[in-house]
Amino acid sequence: MICETVVVTDRPIVLVGFMATGKSKIGRLLAERLGLPFVDSDAEIEATLGKSIVRIFAEDGEAEFRRVERIVITRLLEGVPQLIAIGGGAFIDDRTREALKARATTIWLDPPFAIIASRLKRSHERPLASGKIDEELLALWQERRPFYAEAHIRIETTEEEPGVDVDRILAALRQN
Ligand code: S3P
Repeated sequence: MICETVVVTDRPIVLVGFMATGKSKIGRLLAERLGLPFVDSDAEIEATLGKSIVRIFAEDGEAEFRRVERIVITRLLEGVPQLIAIGGGAFIDDRTREALKARATTIWLDPPFAIIASRLKRSHERPLASGKIDEELLALWQERRPFYAEAHIRIETTEEEPGVDVDRILAALRQN
C-alpha cells in the first residue's frame, strides 16, 4: 500500500454529497492512499440498529434515522482520525453539519446530475430516491446543493477512473 505521507491529517476526512456520488467507492480508495481506516456512516447505522436503511425508514421513519445518524457521526468524529463517507442527507441536518465542519475536513463530491440520475435508476436501497422521477430528484439535488457547498473542499468528480478523482482530492488536500 502506498501511503501519501505528504498529506498529514490530525482530523477525520469526511466525504459528503448527494446520493450515488461515489462517496463509499472513492472513500475506500482514498483511505488506502492515505493509510487511514475507512468507515461508512450508513453501515454503522445499520449495525447499530441491526437492520437495513430501507427497514429503518419504513419502520422508524426518517426523523428517527436522522437522530441515530447524528449520534453515529458524532461518535465517528471522536477517536483516531479516519476517512468517513456519510449518507447524502447527513450534511443537510444543521447539527450534524456544524459538528462535521468544526471537527473534520469535509470534501463535497460533486458529479454532474446526469451521472447521479443514471446511477440511481439502478439502485433499490435508497428510500429517498426510489419511486422518484428525474424531475423530483433534480429538485432535491438543487435544494441540497447550498448545504453541500459549505464543505471545506469541492471536487467536481467524473465517470473516469475513480483513481482520477482520488488524485484530484489528494492534490486539494495538499493545498488545504
Ligand atoms: C440518504 C442517503 C443514503 C442513506 C439514506 C438517506 C439521503 O446514503 O443515508 O438512504 O437522505 O440522501 P447515500 O448517500 O450513500 O446513498
